[in-house]
Amino acid sequence: MFDIQKVREDFPVLRQIINKKPLVYLDNGATTQKPRCVTDVITDYYLRKNSSIHRGVHFLSSQATVEYEKARETVSQFINAKNKHEVIFTSGTTGSLNMLAFSFGEKYIKEGDEIILSEMEHHANIVPWQLLCERKKAKLKVLPFNDDGELLVDQLEYLITEKTKIISVIHISNVLGTINPIKKIIEIGHSHGIPVCIDTAQSIQHVPIDVQKLDCDFLAFSGHKLYGPTGIGGFYGKEKWLEEMPPYQGGGDMVDEVSFEKTTFNQLPFKFEAGTTNYIGAIAMAEGINYIQGIGLSNIADYEHELLEYGAAKLKEVGGVKIFGNAFARTPIFSFHIENVHPLDTGMIFDKMGIAVRTGTHCAQPIMQHYGVDGMVRASLSFYNTKEEIDYLCTGIEQVKRMFL
Ligand code: ALA
Repeated sequence: MFDIQKVREDFPVLRQIINKKPLVYLDNGATTQKPRCVTDVITDYYLRKNSSIHRGVHFLSSQATVEYEKARETVSQFINAKNKHEVIFTSGTTGSLNMLAFSFGEKYIKEGDEIILSEMEHHANIVPWQLLCERKKAKLKVLPFNDDGELLVDQLEYLITEKTKIISVIHISNVLGTINPIKKIIEIGHSHGIPVCIDTAQSIQHVPIDVQKLDCDFLAFSGHKLYGPTGIGGFYGKEKWLEEMPPYQGGGDMVDEVSFEKTTFNQLPFKFEAGTTNYIGAIAMAEGINYIQGIGLSNIADYEHELLEYGAAKLKEVGGVKIFGNAFARTPIFSFHIENVHPLDTGMIFDKMGIAVRTGTHCAQPIMQHYGVDGMVRASLSFYNTKEEIDYLCTGIEQVKRMFL
């Protein structure tokens, strides 16, 4: 395994006192904290190395270009892409999914076509497709989940028609923690000749991902949930799709030749990276990837599973807590209600105790609609969290119950 106390020392933010209490950070689904090696890279870049990539023959520009492309190599190896140019840097999961919906949609979606999502998606994997459907007069279809928070994958066969053009699903639910059977979904999609996109915003930091083994056509993720900075993320697409899809944004670097009569485009991956990219973000995100690879993704998955089992048992013991989702395969995300207490009140009392959780709809209103609630409290854990912090969360719940019951 790994030394949890040593790991925590790498994250200075975790040592803070908030509201006179040691911070217990349980909002990792929203964003993860950054190890010092990531912030060191950012500082070092801005203080000593900053220079725009792909735009100069001078030393700093060449150095930044090499390190940016090294970052692409890191991401490519991390997800086991066949080709490095299948990895595009974007602003994050939302940027990646908007790019896919626009670009794929321009080329392949026409009036009457159908796109399949799941009921478990967060807004970033719903709204871009809805916008596309409005533009093209296409239709969204939704694969439902049961009350345990498990997708009814067998229904996929009934949703698919000859008009289905793409399936896009979340790998791990940001609300329920469910690990969806994406391999099976991809296989079903492919058996009908339909490409499949997986949203790994909540999975790439928890479980190993191999795009070649999964055989997914597209994949999206965010740097800031992967122990890297905000404003950076990645998009993977199989070469055959990326070659065919039109660019999403126009500007510098994505072009080959430009005249007022006609513009030709740069090769992959640059065709999809218009303007000055967040190259420092990409380099720092790669540092975050190196950091978690140093700990080992399977060590992380094992330890987080231990936290899941411990947390699930403890929350059951507390009583008066309704947990949403009970999938067989899941990660340590606990979305819950304390009986008769509004989630916002719970969140505010937790805050006074130094506990950071997310409250509200978690950018996934259809999940709230499924359970008929207007919000939830969510504790989402990372490998730097401890069993003692779960105990303290339970103390927080007891405190809320005392105040409200
Ligand atoms: N970033 C959103 C969350 O907190 C989706 O889960």
